[in-house]
Amino acid sequence: MEIIIQPTAEAATSVAARIIARLLREQPNAVLGLATGSTPVLLYRELIALKLDWRKVTTFNLDEYVGLPPEHPQSYHSFMWENLFRHINISKQNIHIPDGNTKDIPKFCAKYENQIQAAGGVDLQVLGIGTDGHIGFNEPTSSLASRTRIKTLTPQTRKDNARFFGSEDAVPHHVITMGIGTIMEARQNLLLAFGQGKAKAIAEAVEGPITAINPASILQMHPVTKLCLDEGAASRLKRADYYRWVFDNKPGWQRW
Ligand code: PGA
Repeated sequence: MEIIIQPTAEAATSVAARIIARLLREQPNAVLGLATGSTPVLLYRELIALKLDWRKVTTFNLDEYVGLPPEHPQSYHSFMWENLFRHINISKQNIHIPDGNTKDIPKFCAKYENQIQAAGGVDLQVLGIGTDGHIGFNEPTSSLASRTRIKTLTPQTRKDNARFFGSEDAVPHHVITMGIGTIMEARQNLLLAFGQGKAKAIAEAVEGPITAINPASILQMHPVTKLCLDEGAASRLKRADYYRWVFDNKPGWQRW
């Protein structure tokens, strides 16, 4: 894992944006895995400002609520169109977001996995992290080998997301999410986390044992995972000074 600690969320986001911009310039037909939630909003804003060429890019979103109509303001369909897609020159047919209203969830999930494979796999997956360590909506105790499927949100996650819905009762219980096995097949993972509220989950994911109780900890087994953190999210890392030194002293050829 490469732990990149920056003074602010803005600075951490800039590092992540540069990594993605480089990928899209070097590989205009890249396959990107995308995330939602409050964390990547800044990232998408920065990517829009960079005016990259998205015409040949394919995207797969991590997850979607079950039962919310796509036009619901809190659906991840709405989120992605509002925060990214309507501002860039991506082809509509290259966008993939789980269908939370599908009649046959297992069949849809198998198709989603096939579509990822058919696109050549995900080159770079953007990830946030839940306060409970979830990635995508793979809640604690998710199988570390799981594939795209239905999941039930924990009370903690529904509480965390109540701020978007106005009340906890309005937060759906079920979601469709890429699995942890699916995420682990991305060629690169780029996880962003900001604020003290994420500090415990980050410390456990980076410096704790690999365990399904903190699903993000499986990223220790991924050969190319970068974490872009602000000081708050990094505040419980015991080896923070080491990570800072590593980043500040990277050989020039290792930079983007
Ligand atoms: P957040 O959610 O970006 O809104 O904090 C992160 C997540 O649940 O993965």
